[in-house]
Amino acid sequence: RMEIILAPDAASACCEAAARIAAHVRATPEPVLGLATGRTMEAIYRALVGLHRDEGLSFARCRTFNLDEYHPIAPDDPRSYHAYMRAALFRHVDIAPERTRLPDGAAADPAGECRAYEEAIRAAGGIGLQLLGIGLTGHIGFNEPPSDFASRTRLVELDETTRRQNADLFDNRWQNVPRQALTMGVGTIMEARRLLLVATGAAKARIVRDALEGPVTPMVSASALRLHPACTVVLDPEAAELL
Ligand code: GLP
Repeated sequence: RMEIILAPDAASACCEAAARIAAHVRATPEPVLGLATGRTMEAIYRALVGLHRDEGLSFARCRTFNLDEYHPIAPDDPRSYHAYMRAALFRHVDIAPERTRLPDGAAADPAGECRAYEEAIRAAGGIGLQLLGIGLTGHIGFNEPPSDFASRTRLVELDETTRRQNADLFDNRWQNVPRQALTMGVGTIMEARRLLLVATGAAKARIVRDALEGPVTPMVSASALRLHPACTVVLDPEAAELL
């Protein structure tokens, strides 16, 4: 059921993903996009900004919900995912800020914020296309192992592996990376009508193999994607090397 696309290189993988997002936006009257962060996504957002600038791709009808945000972190902190999204995409395209949403990493009541986030996704009609990366722990969003496949948006503890993987924005000191995050649950992600996972580079080869060919288990959150009726995975040759 899962569609696997092997791109000739990382740049092509990201262009392929951007083209699929653009096709979804063009074909949908009121697109609801689930967005992701991380280094892999940077080239995808660059490609989308290019399609907006050169080919008139409009985001004005879109609403967006990001997968996750660190906790605690202020939305205006330059290391926040709020800041990442503004810099990578939102400020370069025609989307009104009030149509974009990420979990509020500074919420005084994280549980209440997570409930409100789920409610906002529901009120928007659910996510039509969810973009995903994969962490070295197999996480999608910040669903560290073990994450129940029925899990919803919640406050989670980050694995040390993940804090080390994401240290570059925090002066390359993993101890500076927040210990917690707010993330959509695996169950939340699985409710999106279509999923698009992108993984590039040799560092992802082992976890891509575990996710796509190992046991379907809460110990590898991304293995849940094999249970989704409409999931596309775009890989470069390095990430696909162990398949
Ligand atoms: C973070 C994000 C994930 C993302 C992962 C991979 O942990 N919360 O959603 O998939 O990074 O990041 P990168 O693309 O930098 O490898």
